[in-house]
Amino acid sequence: MKISQLLSSIRYEATEIQEFDFQWEKIPSPFTQYTEDRVKELLKFTKLPASFFRGKNCLDVGSGNGRYTYALQKLGAEKVDSFDVSEKAIKACKQVNPNAYVMDLMDLTPTFQYDFVLCWGVLHHLSNPYEGFRKVVSQVSFGGVLLIMVYNKATQGIYEEGRKTWSGLTYKEKIQLCKDMIKKHGGNLHGWWDAYNPRYNWSFSEGEVNDWFKKARFWDTKRTDKPQINMRGTRPTCTLYQTCSNFGWKCRFCASRYLTLTRGSIPTSRKNFYAMRT
Ligand SMILES: C[S@@+](CC[C@H](N)C(=O)[O-])C[C@H]1O[C@@H](n2cnc3c(N)ncnc32)[C@H](O)[C@@H]1O
Repeated sequence: MKISQLLSSIRYEATEIQEFDFQWEKIPSPFTQYTEDRVKELLKFTKLPASFFRGKNCLDVGSGNGRYTYALQKLGAEKVDSFDVSEKAIKACKQVNPNAYVMDLMDLTPTFQYDFVLCWGVLHHLSNPYEGFRKVVSQVSFGGVLLIMVYNKATQGIYEEGRKTWSGLTYKEKIQLCKDMIKKHGGNLHGWWDAYNPRYNWSFSEGEVNDWFKKARFWDTKRTDKPQINMRGTRPTCTLYQTCSNFGWKCRFCASRYLTLTRGSIPTSRKNFYAMRT
């Protein structure tokens, strides 16, 4: 990650950062603690075997307090970089990861360097989730895997009422509303707060998210968990992959990064090109 990237969260609206800061500092949840349960959750929503993560170079985008950064570390990742737009979140995340930075994901520039990129519960809070997705995609290496989770359009009904009244409630009333909803529907305080409080709470259908991955020319795309849209895909090592698989061929150049980069449809800067070739 570049220094310029680390210093770049200024563009993000201050009020939204404060909202997330507040959430990380004041809204407790047993579900954000660094325990073995986080490892189980990560395996459940990625549907990847534990062995997949061993030795991998990972990025946790919008890491929050780093609960899944912790899980990646526990699963034997060689390195995890974590970042979040909220300073309070990163302060907490630094307890488990020294490689944690305050940064806005919209300021990412392409690196194509991470074997596994996680962006769990973040994109639906952006003003433009698809643009955010494209930024996150640009961090995935050739052959690397991306897992995102966004809200599911089909399950947003239970939040509608609360979202309409939320801004007029006092802090106490907000907490009470969350508690009432937990009683009625289950879940936890942090989850309900997160569903009500941020300025943007977009939601998507499985087909829409699938299209994002398709446009990014990822393959092996699948929905991995419910009720929200957890989806993962792999960036092919070779951009001829689609043609080969249409014909049922196994392309012998698949391992060639040179071919990928010279014929790649994803814009690749000259700098990246040389960096990858050496
Ligand atoms: C629902 S929380 C999820 C946190 C974490 N992924 C987890 O599962 O615990 C959403 C997080 O996205 C972060 N976030 C929102 N917009 C962001 C942005 N533009 N760049 C980086 N992080 C952002 C928030 O600060 C918040 O910590």
